[in-house]
Amino acid sequence: MLSADVRTVVRSRSGDRRTRCALSGTPEMRGHRPPLSVLYMIESEGLTKRYGDKLAVDGLTFTVRPGIVTGFLGPNGAGKSTTMRMMLDLDHPTSGQVRIDGRHYRQLSNPLAHIGALLDAKAVHGGRSAFNHLLCLAQSNGIPRARVHEVLDTVGLTGVAKKRSNGFSLGMGQRLGIAGALLGDPEILMFDEPVNGLDPEGIHWIRNLMRGLAAQGRTVFVSSHLMSEMALTADHLIVIGQGRLLADTSMAQFIRENSRAYVRMRSPERERLLDVLRDAGHPASPAGEAVEVDGVSAADLGELAARHRIVLHELSPQQASLEEAFMQLTAGSVEYHAHSAEQRPMTEQRSAAPEDGLPEAPPPPGTPGAPPPGTPPGGGWGAGWRNPKRRS
Ligand SMILES: Nc1ncnc2c1ncn2[C@@H]1O[C@H](COP(=O)(O)OP(=O)(O)OP(=O)(O)O)[C@@H](O)[C@H]1O
Ligand SMILES: [Mg+2]
Repeated sequence: MLSADVRTVVRSRSGDRRTRCALSGTPEMRGHRPPLSVLYMIESEGLTKRYGDKLAVDGLTFTVRPGIVTGFLGPNGAGKSTTMRMMLDLDHPTSGQVRIDGRHYRQLSNPLAHIGALLDAKAVHGGRSAFNHLLCLAQSNGIPRARVHEVLDTVGLTGVAKKRSNGFSLGMGQRLGIAGALLGDPEILMFDEPVNGLDPEGIHWIRNLMRGLAAQGRTVFVSSHLMSEMALTADHLIVIGQGRLLADTSMAQFIRENSRAYVRMRSPERERLLDVLRDAGHPASPAGEAVEVDGVSAADLGELAARHRIVLHELSPQQASLEEAFMQLTAGSVEYHAHSAEQRPMTEQRSAAPEDGLPEAPPPPGTPGAPPPGTPPGGGWGAGWRNPKRRS
């Protein structure tokens, strides 16, 4: 099945230079070419990393496949970067192994042609220009100089190619890192939080870039904390928490299995609606002016309301977001919690309080410093961290 997938991918890219190379076999690959079924894949098997007392990665087994974007998710400190470093042999596993195209990274004689990665955009000699940084990489990996121009153009840095990278903004540095990953025209690409620091146009660009690379049949593995972005970019998800595998599933299945689907109803006769729902045996809960109903279709609820001549102002199936599903699944694995103002130590609260000892009232709505519209009482920006819809 997988072999067939890869063959299809290879055929559809027959005009591509690297694909022809992979099919005919580079000198490196001739003689000991891995089976077709493992080409373009990252295979992690029981991957484990311990730093002293800290078990950073705990027996991770999963496969990253070609032709799709695979998102790598997990709370802060879950072990994503450590896993990616081990994939590139930058960190040695305590036990287990990772294979790229069926081989260990160190067995790849021309690694940039197999896997391109952006792990840390700051891992660049700041005194070198963008062009020279890429040229060094190209020359030490047998990549032609013309390719440097190509990737600079792809990431939109041609205009600043001769500028030293220590003068680059965060987003420009990310683009340079992405250029480095693309340099060897590899079949496998790995990005650790690539949208960090990118402006909206840059985020849109990298989403299309990743989807485009996957559509060409390449393997794209990307970590991010931007859930809304991941929902638009990834087809498949690997989710980890405290080093352990929590999910290895398609995006749609992940959301379906880890979040609550419900229908929101609003009526001027809310109390009567609640009675009717209760009599029909449908679990309903009031939510402000609305009513939320689990486990019944919007069509059935609409017909029920019609039979009882109840006027509805809203009848809307609620689609759970990736963010809700992620927070539901990883709630038990979050190591580093933010605290809202009410949870600050008393000493800190006292020093922040005005002289009369009473908490200061927020400025009236519409004035500078006022909370945004819709902010619940006592709910500052940090208070939304926990999913209010999370089942307990
Ligand atoms: N070189 C190191 N020495 C000791 N501990 C480390 C080292 N690198 C990572 N760790 C620890 O391993 C755990 C996993 O870290 P890692 O950076 O892989 O997490 P992450 O999922 O990438 O987090 P984030 O989302 O914040 O980037 C953390 O507890 C971290 O402190
Ligand atoms: Mg990280």
